[in-house]
Amino acid sequence: MGAHTAYIYVRGEFIHERLRLQHAIDEAYEAGLIGKNACGSGWDFDLYLHHGAGAYICGEETALLESMEGKKGQPRLKPPFPANCGLYGCPTTVNNVESIAVAPTILRRGAAWFSGLGKPNNTGTKLFCISGHVEKPCNVEEEMGIPLRELLEKHCGGVRGGWDNLLAVIPGGSSVPCLPAKQCDSLDMDFDTLRDLKSGLGTAAVIVMDKSTDIVRAIARLSYFYKHESCGQCTPCREGTGWMWRIMDRMARGEAEKREIDMLLDVTKQVEGHTICALGDRGSSVIFAIRSKSESTNTRPIQNRWNCLLRRRSKGIA
Ligand SMILES: Cc1cc2nc3c(=O)[nH]c(=O)nc-3n(C[C@H](O)[C@H](O)[C@H](O)COP(=O)(O)O)c2cc1C
Ligand code: SF4
Repeated sequence: MGAHTAYIYVRGEFIHERLRLQHAIDEAYEAGLIGKNACGSGWDFDLYLHHGAGAYICGEETALLESMEGKKGQPRLKPPFPANCGLYGCPTTVNNVESIAVAPTILRRGAAWFSGLGKPNNTGTKLFCISGHVEKPCNVEEEMGIPLRELLEKHCGGVRGGWDNLLAVIPGGSSVPCLPAKQCDSLDMDFDTLRDLKSGLGTAAVIVMDKSTDIVRAIARLSYFYKHESCGQCTPCREGTGWMWRIMDRMARGEAEKREIDMLLDVTKQVEGHTICALGDRGSSVIFAIRSKSESTNTRPIQNRWNCLLRRRSKGIA
C-alpha cells in the first residue's frame, strides 16, 4: 500500500479501551516495530490513535474522515471516494479494524489456510458480538458458518432460560430483519444463508431475544436509536427517522391507529435510497424486523402481521 501513516479511530465512549490501545502503541514504538525505520526496514510508519466524541455516524467512512479533520461528523457526498480524496484530501483507505487485524495471520499462514475455514463462498473467520438474552454476552472470533445454536452454547452459556425460551434473533446488527426462533434451530451464521432468509450477517452483532421480549417495544427502541444518531443533514433521514420512531412509540404504547401502518411503510419508502449515507436505509429496515420467512417482500403480508400485532395490543394482550 505504501502508506507512511495510519490512524485508528475509536468511539469516544470507549475510554478504557483507548488508554489500553495507546499503551500498546507506545510499547510498539519503544520496541522499534513502528516509527522511524520500522522494524529496521528503512520504512517510516507512524500510527495515531484518534478518539471521537461519541457518535454512531462517525463509523461511516467519510463522516469519520470529517471528524478526524476536526469538523462535524457528517458523511460526505460520494464521489469522490476516499481512495481518491480522503483525509486532508489525500488518497485514503478506510477499513474496519477486523479486516486489518486478520491480514497478518493470512499473510503468515497463507490464503489457502484462511479460505479453508468456513463454507464455500463464505470462507474464513468472523468476529461475532453477541448481546441480549444469553447467559454471558461476549465478543468472539469463530469460523464463518458456525451454527447459531453452537455459537450461543459454546461461548455465551446458551439462551437465558434454555433454547426453547428463544423468541427471535437479530443476526447481523440492528438494521437487519430479525428471525423467529423456528428459523434459528439449524441456522448457519454466514452471508449466503442469512441472505436467503431475507436477513443478513451484516456486522455479525447478534442480538438474542427471549420470550420475555415485547417485540414491538424492541423495534420502537431500535427506531429511537436511528432517530437519535441521524446526523440531520438530509431531510428524508432527519425527518423520517423521527417520524418512524413516533409511530413505533405509539404502537408500542397501544395508541397507534390502523391507518398508521400504511403511513409507516410509506415513510420507510420515502427514506430508503433518498439519503446521503446508509443510516437512513438502516433506520427504515428496522421497521421490517418482524418480517417472517413465509412473508414475501411485498407489503401486504407485513401489513397483516402489523394488523395482528396491533389488534392484540389494543386488547391489551401483547
Ligand atoms: C451509519 C454507518 C455506520 C457505520 N459504522 C461503522 C463502524 O462503526 N465501523 C466500521 O468499521 N464500519 C462502519 N461503517 C461502514 C464504513 O462506512 C465502511 O464501509 C467500513 O468501515 C469499510 O471497512 P471494511 O471493508 O473493512 O468492512 C458504517 C457505515 C454506516 C453507513
Ligand atoms: S442519511 Fe442520515 S445520517 Fe446519513 S447523511 Fe443523511 S441525515 Fe446524515
